[in-house]
Parts: sequence; structure tokens; C-alpha cells
Amino acid sequence: MEENKINKKNNILLKVSNITKSYTEKKFLKKTVKNVLKDVSFSLEKGKCLGIIGESGSGKSTLGRILTGIENSDSGFVEFEGKNIHKKENKEIKNDISIVFQNYVSSVNPKFSIAEIISEPLIIETTMKKNEINEELKNLIKDVGLSEEFLERFPNELSGGQLQRVCIARAIATKPKFIMLDEAVSSLDVSTQVEILDLLQKLKKEYNLSYIFVTHDLLTITYICDSVIFFRNGKIEEEISDIKNLKNIKKDYSRKLIDAVIEF
Ligand SMILES: Nc1ncnc2c1ncn2[C@@H]1O[C@H](COP(=O)(O)OP(=O)(O)OP(=O)(O)O)[C@@H](O)[C@H]1O
Ligand SMILES: [Mg+2]
Repeated sequence: MEENKINKKNNILLKVSNITKSYTEKKFLKKTVKNVLKDVSFSLEKGKCLGIIGESGSGKSTLGRILTGIENSDSGFVEFEGKNIHKKENKEIKNDISIVFQNYVSSVNPKFSIAEIISEPLIIETTMKKNEINEELKNLIKDVGLSEEFLERFPNELSGGQLQRVCIARAIATKPKFIMLDEAVSSLDVSTQVEILDLLQKLKKEYNLSYIFVTHDLLTITYICDSVIFFRNGKIEEEISDIKNLKNIKKDYSRKLIDAVIEF
């Protein structure tokens, strides 16, 4: 039993403890404080995909920005392999973390070629030489299911699904350990969604990745995630640690989200 506990602890990649976040809004010269995240705690095991599902405005993207180090929380902390990601002395952790957003069009510079888009993190975060980067680009574009000729193209010459593949290639370029997927397939048609989810499954194995998949779509969660957190109004409403037990859900809110999908 004790051994099990230790093994589980060693297996934790990301630990989120008591995160709170509020924003101050100004309305007609009056300041109001909006509590967006309220004491959020959970952890992600190595090699797993954790889904976070919740209504629009419930704070999912805010949480995603905090646990990738893009934004600070008001209180609480996020540890990656035991190190606090918001501390300056741990800034190298950022190389182990990537993020893929819903809006692939605004995620890329339209004036950059696909080669320039994917090579950007390699230029910024590694000491690779130009010829090494060129070789790596060929591997990366193939790994996301596109041919080398795409490297010469520009974003407006690609379909949505192809451009999201490019964003994924950029996200895996520095060989991170963890990718935050924020509604990463929500803007795509259903068959392309499935293709991208299959690609993410494949890359998870090949690159030894762990994912957090933020979405408002339960089907996406059941397709790719090992566990799921139901998020409501900045708080964890319910957590299902094994997706196979989804039918054992207890809270009304989580049940409503599931029923909405089943009716559909
Ligand atoms: N930088 C900011 N300044 C002020 N308010 C913000 C900021 N970012 C987010 N918010 C507010 O925080 C709340 C949560 O927003 P967030 O984008 O995290 O929700 P979400 O769950 O990702 O929603 P969606 O499913 O629509 O993407 C919203 O009310 C939003 O207006
Ligand atoms: Mg969001």
C-alpha cells in the first residue's frame, strides 16, 4: 500500500495546488472584482491525458494560462516535476511545456512560411544550427502527417486541419513533456476533429507526452482522455479518475453535461 503511494507520487508530472485568480473589471467608473478561479487543486500523472470540461466562461482558459506559466495566479502554486513553474529560477521548465489553442489562424504569423512558423521555438529555445533545424523540420512535418512541400507554403494556403497540424508540429518541436490543448479541435469539422485527435494519440506515444485537454465537448474527452474534471464557475465540481466510470457521475451539473451529449 505504502509502496503504491510512493509510486503514484513519483508519477505526478503536474501538481496544481489551491489556485485562485481574480480580475478587476471597470464598469462605468466602478471597479468590480471577478473571482475566476476558486481554490483549484488537482494533479496530472505522467503519460496521461486529463480532460477539463465546463461551460463557456467557467475559467478553463485562465487555468490553462496559469498552469503553462503564461500568467500568474493570485495564490496557490503549480509544480512541474516538483518545481514551482512560476519561480524565476525554474524558468527552464517552460521548454518542457507547450500549448495549442483553438484559433490556429491567430496563433500563427500569416507572413511566415510554415518552415519559419515551426522553426521559431527551435531558434529561440535551442542551440541547433540552421542545417540541423532544416533536417528537424522535415521530421516534424512528417510526424504531423504532412509532406515536406508544405514547409514552403504560407498559412493562407492550408486548410484549417492542416494549419492545426502545423501548430502541433510547432508545439512538439522542442520535445516538451506536457502539452496544454485548449479547445484544440473545436474549430474543425467533426471528421477533421477525429483525424487531429488520432494524431494527438499517436504523438503522445511517440514523444512520451502528457496532455491536459480543455474543452466544452464531452465526446472529445471520451475519445482521448483517461480522466476528467468537471469545471463549473471557477471550481472543480466533480472529478472522475477513470473515464470508464463516467456513468457513475454523481453531481447534477456533470450529469446534465453528459445528458446533453447523449441527447445530441
Ligand atoms: N485578462 C482578463 N481580464 C479580465 N477578465 C478576464 C480576463 N481573462 C478572462 N477573463 C474573464 O474570466 C472569465 C473566465 O474566462 P475564460 O476565458 O477562462 O473562460 P473559459 O472557460 O475558457 O470560456 P470558453 O469556454 O468560452 O473559452 C470570463 O468571465 C472572462 O471574461
Ligand atoms: Mg476558453
